[in-house]
Amino acid sequence: MQSEHQNRMSYDRGSNARSAEVSSLSSFEPGAIWRDDNGVHINAHGGGVLFHEGVYYWFGEHKIEGVDGNRAQVGVHVYSSTDLYNWTDRGISLAVSGDPDSEIAKGCIIERPKVVYNSKTAKFVMWFHLEFKGKGYGSARAGIAMADKPVGPYMFLRSIRANAGHWPLNVTADQMEPGLIARTKEEKDQFVGGPSSKHSQYNILGAHFEEGQMVRDMTIFVDDDGKAYHIYASEHNSTLQISLLTDDYLDCTGKYVRVFPLCWMEAPAVCKRSGRYYLIASGCTGWAPNAARLAVAESIFGPWMEIGNPCIGINPGNNLGPEKTFGAQSTFILKVQGFDDAFIALFDIWSPHDAIDGRYVWLPVEFCGEGMRIKWMDKWGLSVFSAKAGGNA
Ligand code: GAL
Repeated sequence: MQSEHQNRMSYDRGSNARSAEVSSLSSFEPGAIWRDDNGVHINAHGGGVLFHEGVYYWFGEHKIEGVDGNRAQVGVHVYSSTDLYNWTDRGISLAVSGDPDSEIAKGCIIERPKVVYNSKTAKFVMWFHLEFKGKGYGSARAGIAMADKPVGPYMFLRSIRANAGHWPLNVTADQMEPGLIARTKEEKDQFVGGPSSKHSQYNILGAHFEEGQMVRDMTIFVDDDGKAYHIYASEHNSTLQISLLTDDYLDCTGKYVRVFPLCWMEAPAVCKRSGRYYLIASGCTGWAPNAARLAVAESIFGPWMEIGNPCIGINPGNNLGPEKTFGAQSTFILKVQGFDDAFIALFDIWSPHDAIDGRYVWLPVEFCGEGMRIKWMDKWGLSVFSAKAGGNA
């Protein structure tokens, strides 16, 4: 009898049709159906990857068919791999709750889960964007969960607004001036939509000082010194904030900065290479794609400098190029083990009308000058990276 792995079906690019050919994968095909060890399209959207003891773990939003799939009906799915091409389904790492009073009740919104390992506590910590059931995107909170093993099960600990009662390190005197803080519903309601000069007159930072700053699209980044940072779209998505986490990674510390004020960026993904920090983000157009934005900094707390769109080329699957990020949106930058300098940029092609059909676009990062280039490739493998002397790749 053949093992499940041997039985893996190969597939035609961009379709669900399978052939009987038995193969394991040895390349990435951005935008295609990506099958797991059961032959099922990988269900880990808005995801991130943890590398732990020789294994990669890919966590992401489990979606179901149709528009209902845009809300969390199941939880956070996890897959494991040792080669990044072939992924084993490890099940649901964080399950939604059947208790309607739970903060993670079935039907809430769980987006962009990211897992990091804390070597001091020997725990795996998951952060995600949480919206309470039935409240649209108005809750704007971060959920925190913890596990003893990488695949879980993760125990939901609590949700928070970020840094309640703390001003950012780069706050200005005006922002702390009580008379200038947006207090009325009318003032706060003005603060919606995309970039516009009207927003600068409303002090939304101060409006969220007491209850804590809003958290929507987010990622977690662990620096070389073991300090972890939460990077999240805040202030109604108008401004990113970067917040230092506590040593156990389970809370924020009150030490945070506002970056890209009123620049309307979301889907942040961060990496560090040769002492320099890189951030890829998108603009704010919901599920619809827009142009990717790259920024660099010498310190995680900034100053950050935006240096344009790193994408090059056209996705022949939808004829979309850099101005629409190949039809996709950033979610993570993955450091590939076994190479000196290898990173993969991870994006999602969303499918909001049939959420489960979202696709993955993983492309190699090429560093050049101040920034990086991310070129479309129909099909590629890790051999594009130059191997480290004595490395295992
Ligand atoms: C996107 C965001 C997704 C999701 C979506 C909802 O802009 O990146 O994570 O929140 O909006 O419309």
